[in-house]
This record gives sequence, C-alpha cells and structure tokens, in this order.
Amino acid sequence: MLLDGFNRQHNYLRISLTDKCNMRCFYCMPEEDYDFMPSEQLMQATEVESLAKIFVSLGVEKIRLTGGEPLVRKDAAQIIEALGRMPVTLSLTTNGVRLHEFLSPLKTAGVRSLNISLDTLNADKFNLVTRRNHFGRVWRNIHAAVAEGLHVKVNVVLMKGMNDAEINDFIEWTKNTPVHVRFIEFMPFDGNRWNSDKVVSLAEILQTIESRYSVIKLEDAPNDTTKKYTVPGHAGTFAVISTMTQPFCGTCNRIRLTADGRLKNCLFAREETDLLTALRTGENVEDLIRQNILRKHASHGGQFSSTVEEVHGEQIHNRSMIAIGG
Ligand code: GTP
Ligand code: 5AD
Ligand code: SF4
Repeated sequence: MLLDGFNRQHNYLRISLTDKCNMRCFYCMPEEDYDFMPSEQLMQATEVESLAKIFVSLGVEKIRLTGGEPLVRKDAAQIIEALGRMPVTLSLTTNGVRLHEFLSPLKTAGVRSLNISLDTLNADKFNLVTRRNHFGRVWRNIHAAVAEGLHVKVNVVLMKGMNDAEINDFIEWTKNTPVHVRFIEFMPFDGNRWNSDKVVSLAEILQTIESRYSVIKLEDAPNDTTKKYTVPGHAGTFAVISTMTQPFCGTCNRIRLTADGRLKNCLFAREETDLLTALRTGENVEDLIRQNILRKHASHGGQFSSTVEEVHGEQIHNRSMIAIGG
C-alpha cells in the first residue's frame, strides 16, 4: 500500500506515454521554445509495462494513460493491450483526434470509460485554442465513442474571454447526448499564459448554469476531483474540477509517471524521482517509489498560496502540462 505522510492511500497511477501531440493547445504548452523529449529518453513499451507491474504490486488499482496525446504513440495499441491484461481499471485521456483508430483495441483491453478534451463547440474557436483544425473529427469521434457504449467524460478548460460564454451551450448539448461534461478551472503551468483573471471559478460556473437550468447536486465518489451535478431530464451530466478555488488535495489518491519515467507525487510536485534509470540500472524501484510518496506535500506540491490571486504573483516551478499529462 502506498501511504504518504498524511495517511492518503495512492492507488491511482496516471502514466504519460509521450509529450508529443497532434494539436498545440495554448493552455497546455508554450507557443515557442518547447523541446519535445528525445525518443531514447522515453519509456519503451516493455518499460511502461514493467513499471506499471511494480505499481500494481504496491496497490495501484487504476491506471489512466495520458500524454501529450497518448494515441500518437506508434505502439499505443500494444501498451493498451498489455495494461489491459493487468488487474486494474484502465482508462485514457485523449484529445479524440485519432480515437476512431483505437475503439477496437480499447474495447479488447476492457476500457469502459474515456476522457476526451473539447474546449469549445465552435469550429473557429477550436482552431484558435488548439492551433489545429480537427474539430469535425473530434466531434464525430466523441459521438462514435458514445455509440459504442463507452462512458464519455468531456474535459472543458474554461478561460475567461475565450469559452466562458459557451457554458450553457455545453449544458444544452447534454440534454439529448449522454456525455459527462467537466468544466475545469484553468491552472498555471510553465509557458501557458495563465493569469488569475482568466480563471472561471466553480461559483461562477454554477451561477451561470443556475441562471437558466435547475441543477441538482449528485454524490461524489470518495477520491473524485470533480463536484458532480445534473439537470433533471438531461441525458448527460456536468461536473466541475475546482483545483484553483476549492482544491480536493485532502482526498488525493493520485501519482504520476511522466513519459521519461519520472515519478511525480502531485500534479504540482517540483521533486521528481527517475524510476526509468533505476529500472534500467537494476536499482530497487519499489524503495524509490515508497520514499518519494512519503515526501508528498499536503497540497499542490507545496507550491500554491491559499487564494487564486496570490498564486498569480508566484513563480510556480513545474513542467509544461504537455510533459505531465494532467
Ligand atoms: P478520472 O477522475 O479518472 O475520470 O480522471 P480525471 O478527471 O482526474 O482525469 P483527466 O485526465 O480527464 O483530467 C481532467 C482534469 O483534472 C485535468 O485538468 C487534470 O489536470 C485535472 N486533474 C487530474 N488529476 C488531478 C489531480 O490529482 N489534482 C488536480 N489538482 N487536478 C487533477
Ligand atoms: N488547466 C487545466 N486543465 C488543463 N488541461 C490541460 N492544460 C490544462 C490547464 N492549464 C486538461 C485538458 C486535458 C487534461 C489532461 O488536462 O483538458 O483534457
Ligand atoms: Fe493531489 Fe496535488 Fe492534485 Fe492536490 S494538486 S489533488 S495533492 S495531485
């Protein structure tokens, strides 16, 4: 069991398969000066499998594959199949661009639920945010995944002046479509143009929705990052991920493995432990994992002040989101 100093049990591992992506969302990566990881620094498929096995032996019960975009990796299907054979709930966070090519391997691997990013329902705005024109394909693939019977969560990173006017359009979409929309408070990462004025808070999101719909609070699962809600009569639901204004660190059960094989015990952890080199040189990986987790901070990698406005002025030391995987 992977317990930290606050008695939190870590049974959910997020594995980033690559920092490469077929889109260029500005909130996720710097516009210039981003060097992708050289391929020899990335975990090979067999190394992903070996490290995942060690985590499973230490109590990990859920694995989520992330990126960059996990489905741009040539051996993504092979990795999905290998992890699908392990005694874990396997899931994936994807931008949806190549999802149509993977619905079959995902099904074979027993994946029942997918998280797909879609920040706007407007194709022109999509091009502006992602700097690529894949709106039609992502839209079709979300509906294809729903038609396959998958539980589909749609991630919407809200940014003031960009897509906050679309909150109720997303709610309207859930009326007849059984998708689970999650509005995410914009978070600061290296080179992503974050600023506290752009954060749309949980309170503001609810106010906007309640001005037009009646809203019922749903029960949240024990380690959820989301606060869940429903509009009566709608086929889908909505939720809010309120990292900035109402953090949920007290019940955190997550750890992360970056594509270059570093363990991060928090999304905002400064410290990283190089498990890939340890695996390659035959060091005791389990001990390194346990020691790292014991050093986990109470919240936000020990880096945030209490209010969003204070975080604004602070230098947050971290990777770009594209090199963490969310
Ligand atoms: P499930 O709960 O397994 O569905 O996954 P998730 O919603 O946590 O994962 P997803 O990859 O879809 O991420 C959605 C948003 O939640 C992203 O903005 C992530 O950065 C954020 N997120 C995921 N895990 C954490 C976490 O442990 N802490 C914080 N603060 N944010 C997280
Ligand atoms: N703030 C909040 N969420 C983010 N994501 C990417 N960058 C940010 C950010 N700066 C989300 C995307 C993706 C998930 C893995 O992380 O919505 O779906
Ligand atoms: Fe866990 Fe860090 Fe996210 Fe808080 S910010 S929930 S401690 S990963």
